[in-house]
Amino acid sequence: MQDIKIASVVSNEFEKEVYSGLTDHPKHLSSKYFYDKKGDRLFQDIMAMPTYYLTDCEYDILENNKKEITELFTGFGTFDLIELGAGDGKKTKILLKEFSDKNIDFSYVPIDISNNALNQLQNSIENELPKVNIQPFQGTYFEALKEISSRKNRKIILFLGSNIGNLEHEQAIDFMNNIKELMQQDDLLFMGFDQKKNPQTILDAYNDQEGVTAAFNKNVLARINTELNANFDLEQFLHWEVYNPETGSAKSYLVSKIQQTVQIENLELTVNFKQWETIHTEISQKYDDEIINWLARQSGLEMTTAYQSKKYGYKNCVFKKS
Ligand code: AVJ
Repeated sequence: MQDIKIASVVSNEFEKEVYSGLTDHPKHLSSKYFYDKKGDRLFQDIMAMPTYYLTDCEYDILENNKKEITELFTGFGTFDLIELGAGDGKKTKILLKEFSDKNIDFSYVPIDISNNALNQLQNSIENELPKVNIQPFQGTYFEALKEISSRKNRKIILFLGSNIGNLEHEQAIDFMNNIKELMQQDDLLFMGFDQKKNPQTILDAYNDQEGVTAAFNKNVLARINTELNANFDLEQFLHWEVYNPETGSAKSYLVSKIQQTVQIENLELTVNFKQWETIHTEISQKYDDEIINWLARQSGLEMTTAYQSKKYGYKNCVFKKS
């Protein structure tokens, strides 16, 4: 088995970001810290819920268009299929299987912040698709860019699941622009964008009744407890989702139900919460054609193809360097 290349110094960064986020006004924490072993499992549970329509939509798009997508990706010789935020790779395996069956020459480079997710992905691919050459890389998106730039083959970059939605527009443009800088003429960027839709559908997707999303959101506090020796009482925080249909931003918060004080030993930090004070934890941006085209234009990319899901609104778009 090939070793996972590891870039990140996340533990340091985690401490720094927790410190700055919880001493800021208003308080915030980054959703990239949801994903440890428990968080990965919770996210898999979320993807399996019918209310979280995003995964099914993208799965259908890939399944229904895999022939055409394969034609788009092949024909220039060998390539690196680089996936940002690969997770469990369930959707990507549709393409991997198709490429493998057709004996297409490529390497699969899944990149994820979670070492645990990458390990599982690697194991499952070695079992299910033994012909696929897999070269996993563990790191943040920022570290991923450096890894990508060191690669010489033609690049097809996958950024699925509407993961781009975790970035504010300004950051998204920055990120897409950085990707464009690493692309050559024949390289492609293949992205998933969840679309604006009935606001209730979006709220239901991020506010399930079983409380899985709440546990996922609170997992960042659980991690601070175990990794930084803190004493957050998870029961005393409320998961709260808001969706603004005008801007398309869905935002997750943790709201302090009471006035409380939390100690974070490793940071020698005492955090005070007023009753109903918030911690902003995640943005899941929703898009329309205007926004997508604007993001592309701002980042020097040109959309060449788009696939739309039959149910709900979800799109996969293909970009090249303009
Ligand atoms: C994996 C970032 C795309 O924002 O929809 C699911 C994460 N958060 N439920 C999303 C998530 C709450 C998801 N992404």
